[in-house]
Amino acid sequence: MALLIKNGEIITAGERYKADIWCENETITRIDKSIPASAGAEVIDAEGKYIFPGFIDPHVHIYLPFMGTFAKDTHETASKAALIGGTTTFIEMICPARTDDPLQAFELWLGKAQGQSACDFTFHMGVTRYDDKAEKEFMEIVKRGVSSFKIFLAYKGALGVTDEELYQTLRLARKLGVITTAHCENADLVLKLQQQLLAEGKVGPEWHHESRPPIVEAEGVHHLMTFAKLLGAHVYIVHTSCEEALREAIKGKLAGVNVWVETLIQYLLLDKTHAELPAFEGAKFVMSPPLRDKRNQEVFWNGLRDGLVSTLATDHAPFDFATQKRMGEKDFTKIPNGIPSLEDRVNLFYTHGVNRGRIDLHRFVDAASTQAARLFGLFPRKGAIQPGSDADLVVYDPAYRGNLSVKTQAMNVDYNPFEGMAIEGRPSVVTVRGEVAVRDGRFVGKPGRGKFLQREPNHF
Ligand code: URP
Ligand code: ZN
Ligand code: ZN
Repeated sequence: MALLIKNGEIITAGERYKADIWCENETITRIDKSIPASAGAEVIDAEGKYIFPGFIDPHVHIYLPFMGTFAKDTHETASKAALIGGTTTFIEMICPARTDDPLQAFELWLGKAQGQSACDFTFHMGVTRYDDKAEKEFMEIVKRGVSSFKIFLAYKGALGVTDEELYQTLRLARKLGVITTAHCENADLVLKLQQQLLAEGKVGPEWHHESRPPIVEAEGVHHLMTFAKLLGAHVYIVHTSCEEALREAIKGKLAGVNVWVETLIQYLLLDKTHAELPAFEGAKFVMSPPLRDKRNQEVFWNGLRDGLVSTLATDHAPFDFATQKRMGEKDFTKIPNGIPSLEDRVNLFYTHGVNRGRIDLHRFVDAASTQAARLFGLFPRKGAIQPGSDADLVVYDPAYRGNLSVKTQAMNVDYNPFEGMAIEGRPSVVTVRGEVAVRDGRFVGKPGRGKFLQREPNHF
């Protein structure tokens, strides 16, 4: 059935105007001043609302075997939560153990998402081991439509790569024309600091930050910049949390490295004092890199405003407090790292960014949708409102007022790190390729309708 959205104000990364949008066969087919409703079309009145392109979260974990447990969401629960919050596409990391075959891991992750996810999805291929066999499989995976790699410079002995593997990954990425996303922390320094703190009896979640101070993240970024410069590779720094690390990335940019920076909604709104909460409550806020000193928040708002920071993601990694986070009750290094935020990113970014005058509507759309589409080869299918684009649209009600709570969330986890925080605006309708998936905070779509988005390399 065709869909007609009338009377809304279209906002993209570069434009703002009032027009009607006609959607048919999953795509936007016409945008015009006044399109008459014709028989058979579903009509949505968007008077007083903004219409944004569907938001894209370029960094999520859904199926995630990690630190002796598994992240809590399924592709069904995560995609519903994403859609309720206005995110219509996510990019998940395929995260094989060092001993796993990359191709089997690709098929495993694809099998978990296909037929389960209600929104469209794609993957970054995690490089957690590099040898001749793995290299051949990475080449095959790129042919199958995964045109980005993900590496960890952290998590020594688990998912982290050696310098030799980092070199080989960036060399292959350059050759194939794919971008490499990287978690930047110096793994050896983290390990030493963890051992030192535990030996001093410092075992609570409040010590997590001390084991991964800003200098350790900055060193990770500097390390990546050195390798990327030498190899001419395109790189993307995930979850950048502190000024020191951002400065290293900017130095890399100035030296000619093709580098882009991502930050997360939690770094903009939460800080290290959350991980210091008593009675082990701080464990809810343990993630890596850690939540930082509050002074960093302004730096990242400024960076987002002027484009030094390209994207705002979530790094959604949900672990229950009552059971999973408690695995680290006597040793903070055993607390599963991660924070759930997939559902709340867009509304919090709108509330604290646009409504507080920190960013304008165009940078809001750009950082939460269009930049990710461009960097990861999805544009203009996603991240745009124009004829030919997928009809993933967010009809956004700026007059909505509400509060976030675990009691009302769709994310499958037993706490919300933003509990009680106000939101000023939320999607009233969300469409996935021309079908309504969300109305007024309720999922009304089809689980399993999401498509795997194959992406071409060499799109820069
Ligand atoms: O603490 C985090 N960030 N957990 C998820 C895995 C990762 O490092 O991205
Ligand atoms: Zn990470
Ligand atoms: Zn992550």
